[in-house]
Amino acid sequence: MMKAQELKDKYLDFFASKNHKIISSASLIPENDPTVLFTTAGMHPLVPYLMGEKHPEGKRLANIQKCLRTGDIDEVGDAIHHTFFEMLGNWSLGDYFKSETISYSWELLTKIYGLDKKNLAISIFGGNQAVPEYDKESEKYWLDLHITPERISKVTDNWWGPAGQIGPCGPDTEIFYWTGSGIAPKKFDESDKSWVEIWNNVLMEFNKTADGIFIPLKQKNVDTGMGLERTLAVINGFDDNYLTELFQPIIERIADLSGKKYSNNKKAFRIIADHIRSAVFVLGDPMGIAPSNTGQGYVLRRLIRRAIRFGKALGLEHNFCTALAQVIINDQYYNHSYPEIKRNEDFILTELEKEEIKFRQTLKKGLREFQKKKSINGAEAFQLFSTYGFPLELTEELARENNFQINKNDFAAEFKKHQELSRTASAGLFKGGLADDSVMSKRHHTATHLLLQALRIVLGSHVEQRGANINTERIRFDFTHSEKMTAAQLKKVEDLINEQIEKRLPVGFKEMSVEDAKQRGAMGIFTQKYGEKVKVYTVGDFSQEICGGPHVDNTKELGHFKILKEESSSAGIRRIKAKLE
Ligand code: ALA
Repeated sequence: MMKAQELKDKYLDFFASKNHKIISSASLIPENDPTVLFTTAGMHPLVPYLMGEKHPEGKRLANIQKCLRTGDIDEVGDAIHHTFFEMLGNWSLGDYFKSETISYSWELLTKIYGLDKKNLAISIFGGNQAVPEYDKESEKYWLDLHITPERISKVTDNWWGPAGQIGPCGPDTEIFYWTGSGIAPKKFDESDKSWVEIWNNVLMEFNKTADGIFIPLKQKNVDTGMGLERTLAVINGFDDNYLTELFQPIIERIADLSGKKYSNNKKAFRIIADHIRSAVFVLGDPMGIAPSNTGQGYVLRRLIRRAIRFGKALGLEHNFCTALAQVIINDQYYNHSYPEIKRNEDFILTELEKEEIKFRQTLKKGLREFQKKKSINGAEAFQLFSTYGFPLELTEELARENNFQINKNDFAAEFKKHQELSRTASAGLFKGGLADDSVMSKRHHTATHLLLQALRIVLGSHVEQRGANINTERIRFDFTHSEKMTAAQLKKVEDLINEQIEKRLPVGFKEMSVEDAKQRGAMGIFTQKYGEKVKVYTVGDFSQEICGGPHVDNTKELGHFKILKEESSSAGIRRIKAKLE
C-alpha cells in the first residue's frame, strides 16, 4: 500500500531531480489579488509568471496545492469527485514544452509509481474552431513512448483555461487509468467511466483576451495538475477515492455516529466526508473564512449545510460536524501536511458548531414552511433561501424527495439567475485580479500596502491582513482588529497614507529567502515551507511586504487616498473600503 505522504514525496523528489524548485501551497483563499473565490488549481497563484513575469525561484517549479472547486458540487457523491482536493503540479515557465513534460509524466507514473502501462490511456487536443489543428506533436511524443494509437484519442474539449474570463490557456493532454474489472480494453473510450482521468498536462501557449480572442503568449508554458485523491486510489488498486487513508478515518467516524454502513449509504457518506473536509480547510486556512451569506463564506455555509442535510438522511439528528472535523484536525497525515489546521482548531470548531446550531434551528422552521406547501416555485425557493438560509440546491433536493410538483423551468431560471450572479462575481474578481494589470488596479494594489502599515501604526501590531479584493473601482481590505475604529483613528490612517503619497516614495522589490524576509520584519503570511525565495516589496522605508505585484513605481502616482467605509466583516475581523481619487 502506498501512503499519501510517500506519493507526494516521490512526486516532489522526482521533479526536484529534474531541476524543479519546490514551492509551497498557496492559501486556499487567493491572497491580495483574488482571481476567483478559491484557488481552483496550482496555476492560479502563478498567473503573473505564466504571463511572463519572472518568478523568484526560476523557470521550473513544482508543488502540491490545496484546491477547492464548487463547480463539481453536484458530482460529489460518486467515487472520484471532490470539492476540496490536493493537486500535484509542475510548471515550466517558458522553459521545457511538450516533449519533456510528456516524458516526465510517463516516467513518473510508470517507473516511480509503478503503474502498469497496459492500464494507461491518453487524450490529446483534437482541434476546435479557434485552433483547428489537432495536437499532432503531442501525439507523436506519446507514440514515441510506445502508446498504441488505439489508446490515444483526439478530443475537441481538450483545452484548459483560462481560469476566469481572460488569461493563459491552451490545449491539454490527459492521462487516464483503467479502474474497471478485468483487462483494460484495447481501445480507449473516454465515455467509459472506468477510465479515470488522473493527470492533466496543459500546453499553455495562448492568452485569451477580453475580446475573446486567443493570442500567443510571450512564452510557451507547461501547467500540469494531478489529483492526489484519484492517483492514490488507483495506485493502491481502489476504484473509490473514499477507500483511501485520506477519507477512511472520516468514513469510519460517520459509521460510528450514525450506526449505518458505508457500503449501503455511499452517496450520503461521501458527501458528508467531502464537505466537512472542505469546510475544515476553508476555516483552517491562514486566511480563514467564517460562514456568511456572500462570497467564500456562502460557499462554506452551503457545504456545511449540505453535509448536515445528508446527515439527516443517515439519521444524524444531533450536531456531528465538530466530531468529524476533529478526526481531520487530529489526523497524522493532515497534521503533517497542513499544520495550519491544528493551529486554527479553535476557530474551526467554534464556527462549525455555531453554524450547525443555527442551521438546525432554521431548518426546523423552514421545513415547517415547506410542509405547508404542495408545490414550490422559483421565487418561493429564493425566499426560503433568503429567510431560512436554504441554499437553492437544498430546496430542490427537498422538493424532489417530497415528490413536489416543481416547475422545472421556473426553478431552472432561478438557479440560472443565481449561478449567473456568482459567475459574474467571480468574473469580476478575475478582471480585478492578477490578470488585470490596469494602471488603476496597480495604484489600488500599491495603496493597500500603505493601508496595512498605517493600520499597524495607528491600531497596533496585532493588525494583520486577512483578505483583500482589489479592482479598478475600490479596495476592500479585511484585517484583524476587534473594535470599531473611531473617526479619529480613521482620519489618522488616511492622513498617514496621504503623507507617504506626498513624500513621493519609491516602490521596489528585492528577492530574498523567506527567512531573510522574516528577519527584516516584512509583512506576509508565512506559510512557505521549502526555504524558497520570495519578492519583498518596499514602499520607501514605510512598508515592506511579501507580495507578487503588480505595483506602481512611485507613490506620487497614487493621487489621494480616501476611506469610504469601515465595518465588521466577521468576529474579530474589520473591513475597510477605500479608493484613490
Ligand atoms: N490547470 C490544469 C488543471 O487544473 C492543470 O487541470
